[in-house]
Amino acid sequence: MTAAAPAYAAVHAASIADPERFWLDAAKAIEWETAPERAFDEGAGIYGRWFPDARLNACHNAVDRHVEGGRADQAAIIHDSPVTGTKRTISYRELRDEVATLAAVLSGFGVGRGDRVVIYMPMVPEALFGMLACARLGAIHSVVFGGFAANELAARIEDASPTVILAASCGVEPARTVAYKPLLDAAIARSSHKPEACLILQRPQALAGLMEGRDHDWAETVAAAKAEGRTADPIAMAATDPLYILYTSGTTGKPKGVVRDTGGYCVALTWSMTNLYGVRPGEVYFCASDIGWVVGHSYIVYAPLLHGCTTVLYEGKPVGTPDAGAFWRVVAEHGVGTLFTAPTALRAIKKDDPRAAKIADYDLSGFRALFLAGERADPDSVAWAETALGKPVIDHWWQTETGWAIAGNPIGIEKLPVKYGSTAMPMPGYDLHILDESGKPVPAGTMGTIALKLPLPPGCLPTLWGSDARFRSSYLATFAGYYDTSDAGIRDADGYVTVLGRTDDIINVAGHRLSTGGMEAVLAAHPDVAECAVIGIRDALKGEAPCGFVVLKSGVFKEPAEIERELVARVRDEIGPVAAFKLALTVERLPKTRSGKILRATMKAIADGQSYTTPPTIEDPAALDEIGESLKSRGLGA
Ligand code: COA
Ligand code: AMP
Repeated sequence: MTAAAPAYAAVHAASIADPERFWLDAAKAIEWETAPERAFDEGAGIYGRWFPDARLNACHNAVDRHVEGGRADQAAIIHDSPVTGTKRTISYRELRDEVATLAAVLSGFGVGRGDRVVIYMPMVPEALFGMLACARLGAIHSVVFGGFAANELAARIEDASPTVILAASCGVEPARTVAYKPLLDAAIARSSHKPEACLILQRPQALAGLMEGRDHDWAETVAAAKAEGRTADPIAMAATDPLYILYTSGTTGKPKGVVRDTGGYCVALTWSMTNLYGVRPGEVYFCASDIGWVVGHSYIVYAPLLHGCTTVLYEGKPVGTPDAGAFWRVVAEHGVGTLFTAPTALRAIKKDDPRAAKIADYDLSGFRALFLAGERADPDSVAWAETALGKPVIDHWWQTETGWAIAGNPIGIEKLPVKYGSTAMPMPGYDLHILDESGKPVPAGTMGTIALKLPLPPGCLPTLWGSDARFRSSYLATFAGYYDTSDAGIRDADGYVTVLGRTDDIINVAGHRLSTGGMEAVLAAHPDVAECAVIGIRDALKGEAPCGFVVLKSGVFKEPAEIERELVARVRDEIGPVAAFKLALTVERLPKTRSGKILRATMKAIADGQSYTTPPTIEDPAALDEIGESLKSRGLGA
């Protein structure tokens, strides 16, 4: 079926035909305390477990190993922060020392193997020290993105029940300083679980008040540990032990705690650096995401460090800090070979600098490839970047659940021809199928649900934190023997995969994954709202933007405009600014089927100006016209 070039095809075929041999071979790139003798135990866990007999420490592999192996003076992290006007380079030796000290501090607070540590921090090196210090101790970190508000943070604290929380006093956005500490205090107050201690990094942009007994000043505590010469060594963990929990939007609005194991993740990420990204140890890798997202976990922190690269930790935006040349400045200044960002960032750059004049300001001779993920890469932006940069622009598709790419163009093996709009071919270990509703494979070129035949490859989630049942019902129940990606897609006759969008209520706003169900819960809680529906409507910059339709209770005297403003504020307060919820529209009724199902897909088609057929089961077709009118009143829709 596939016309893919032979080298890639052979690699992928080998991974499916003989996964034992393939992944044991890949595992040789990792330093093990006990090396794996077998790759997979199909009888363990929910669908089997990777490297069941092996032991290792992820922090040792990401840090100490490189110090011992000759990279002690190489930069491990370059923190480049246009929002604070600072830059800092940290060598592998310095990183080892910082992490060993912080691990001792955490240990002093009672953190040990298997304990959870929540990290609510912006893009500062100390956040990476915290993640690696947890890995060193065998503790499980759970990083929460700074753009989430207290309620979302509280839900994560409740679920993860951390022994300690690491936080900063503030994050710095271009137009404002975001005080994190009041959000942290509110979240802890709302959660029934209380941490033993909070370690707070004071940033000069906004100092935080510390609570006697619970809160500790980061700098003072670490300085005291250094003065006492306290350090902690890496602890050997089972490859199947969790390295972290990362919460992601789930269909019910209750976040899912994606569990990442240690051994499989280290093996898969290291494989990907060489073969997918074509990166060699010692090179500079720049992933312009945030450590609060899976892309940041994998390609700001773990993969570059496991591979002995220098990782750029960029605290800024693609535009406005100070201009659309920001990424190219970073690439030129730090000698970046590979850049990884979200299509939305590229669209923002293209909007501000359509002629790509800024690119000419910098020497990009050492730059080799641009990778995109997080949302669909629109062909216009990919073509624009290819022309402007004169380098490969590679779209690849993945999810928080998988931890690394499901499909991509493995330029380290061979660069496959690029087809705009497609994320190219499945990566090793992913046995990808497009299925119809009954679970039957569809012919090439036909849309269906993208499903992955079990087992998932190393690096992918073994379960959800504390909820095997939800893992089964969310991912494994749709098609027997498959993982349901909840993405719809097409595979063409050459085997190329095109991802078309989610089949559930998840929307993708500026590369950020959000649940419309979660936003509906906030709207529905307003005392004047009778019912509501949130949909993602097409947005030229962010890909999608949420739009809420609300029906008010009868007898409400407040002006609809006032209620709409309150609703926008509520979503910002409860979910966070990252939801980018700016549009609430009051309507008389919602379009529904006769059985009461809200016609969200039809509403979205109207908002996006696409053609649609009125569903025969609709209660009253006029309700759709009213949605169109209400959108038109705001200059939206057809
Ligand atoms: N802490 C606190 N607030 C944050 C935040 C953080 N870490 N990150 C974003 N926010 C806030 C922003 O300030 C903004 O607030 P506002 O409503 O007051 O303006 C809001 O959340 C929405 O942020 P964002 O979606 O990032 O939009 P933006 O207008 O600030 O920037 C882009 C637009 C395109 C430049 C930006 O979305 C971008 O760079 N996206 C890249 C996405 C990405 O890397 N995704 C990771 C997946 S690979
Ligand atoms: P997240 O878990 O936040 O990484 O979001 C995962 C979702 O983002 C996927 O299920 C897709 O819907 C979408 N996504 C990620 N990468 C791509 C891509 N390259 N093309 C299309 N959609 C993507």
